[in-house]
Amino acid sequence: MSGNITFTMIKPGAVADGHIGAIMAKIAEGGFKFKAVKMFRLSKEQAESFYAVHSARPFFNSLVASMSSGPIIAAVLENENAVLAYRDFIGATNPADAKEGSIRKLYGTSIESNAVHGSDSDENARIEANFFFSSMEQF
Ligand code: CMP
Repeated sequence: MSGNITFTMIKPGAVADGHIGAIMAKIAEGGFKFKAVKMFRLSKEQAESFYAVHSARPFFNSLVASMSSGPIIAAVLENENAVLAYRDFIGATNPADAKEGSIRKLYGTSIESNAVHGSDSDENARIEANFFFSSMEQF
């Protein structure tokens, strides 16, 4: 059975471009409920740890540099079938391929600076939510 929680980050580029409010409004309009929200700046080491699953990929170092370049918004979201529903909602990883009107199409500027992260499994959603929030901070 699929879970009802996913984890997202508004990435540094979208924060720097002033899109926090528009992206959060769009997420809410999409039917996702905010269960926890935090503004946070990842250190290089924290970004490496968060994206450890990609450590062997050629884009790892530039992804880490980009993700630690400025503050992010971290959030836990609730919806039915949340992980898959959110991945579908935000659009393809590369903004150039993302569907019209999706967050990544509207606010992403490159594959790394693709506006938002979304968990890829229920297990990773739980791990990623726990990376940023204690259980007492998740409502
Ligand atoms: P995200 O959902 O945060 O998960 C991993 C990130 O790696 C992804 O979004 C992209 O921003 C980034 N990335 C950079 N290059 C690639 C690539 N070639 N394929 C997949 N992800 C990439």
